[in-house]
Amino acid sequence: MPKNVLVTGGAGFIGSNFAPYFCKKYPDYLVINFDKLTYAGDLNNLEECDNVSNYVFVHGDICDASIVSNIFEKYDITDVIHFAAESHVDNSIANPRIFIETNVLGTFTLLDAFRKKHGNSLHNRFHHISTDEVYGTLGKMGYFTESTPYAPNSPYSASKAGSDMLVRAYFHTYGVNTVISNCSNNYGPKQYREKLIPTIIRCALAKKPIPIYGNGKNVRDWLYVVDHCKAIDLIFHQGKSGEVYNVGGSNELSNLQVAKKICKILDKKYPLKSGS
Ligand SMILES: NC(=O)c1ccc[n+]([C@@H]2O[C@H](COP(=O)([O-])OP(=O)(O)OC[C@H]3O[C@@H](n4cnc5c(N)ncnc54)[C@H](O)[C@@H]3O)[C@@H](O)[C@H]2O)c1
Repeated sequence: MPKNVLVTGGAGFIGSNFAPYFCKKYPDYLVINFDKLTYAGDLNNLEECDNVSNYVFVHGDICDASIVSNIFEKYDITDVIHFAAESHVDNSIANPRIFIETNVLGTFTLLDAFRKKHGNSLHNRFHHISTDEVYGTLGKMGYFTESTPYAPNSPYSASKAGSDMLVRAYFHTYGVNTVISNCSNNYGPKQYREKLIPTIIRCALAKKPIPIYGNGKNVRDWLYVVDHCKAIDLIFHQGKSGEVYNVGGSNELSNLQVAKKICKILDKKYPLKSGS
């Protein structure tokens, strides 16, 4: 059945991998990429969507209720896949307010527009993209489950936890057809330079010291971004309304291990002239 899917934050890292994948796989869907183009959004990430007939870009802010409502009407939005967020933990420590505005108020604005248009229709879905950081620090078990208690540790993860709770409440209160996916750390093309892996690569190539927090033993699970896109596709189409789905790569590494792996690859690809 044709759909008009509002993809928010489609100019960012994961959204710009997802939009071309989704347009290609579902030619009878219209993908409306709605993005504010903050420092993290870049239309150059979306060259694959140039001249793609089932793709449109709309510039705007998810916190702006009147733009959101206009888009819902203009494009007769049937479903939402909500990526847009402030996503960098360090920035959330320096400037938490924008994280609360975008991640909590922005999600609320979208959810409310969606509820007003579709109520509790099971034909229309709101898919909220979230993070496993809402569960806090990875324990000895090495992974989180959907029933791990929330324990956000940064303003970023607290704002994502808040948005997850709003999505949950819209399912329980209004019967809105929601799903939430909480994914571990993504890696792959189009990631903004501030994140761990691009920073390691940049510093190593420039022969500069690689900044690693603390003792580098902080463990995260890593997933290739296109595998995340495939999981979103599956959950969006087949997930049960009101459910939460964790997505991960079973690929737990400390930050130090990630840095060492990357340096090993770069040593092979770009050996130093001295051979050292
Ligand atoms: N990157 C990861 O490893 C990871 C892991 C799990 C979950 N997530 C979640 O996935 C989503 C996407 O993450 P990402 O890494 O692609 O983020 P990103 O920072 O690369 O991209 C975010 C996008 O959202 C847009 N945006 C920000 N504020 C907006 C607003 N007010 N209105 C409209 N657009 C706005 C930005 O312009 C940008 O294009 C986020 O919700 C994040 O919490 C990310």
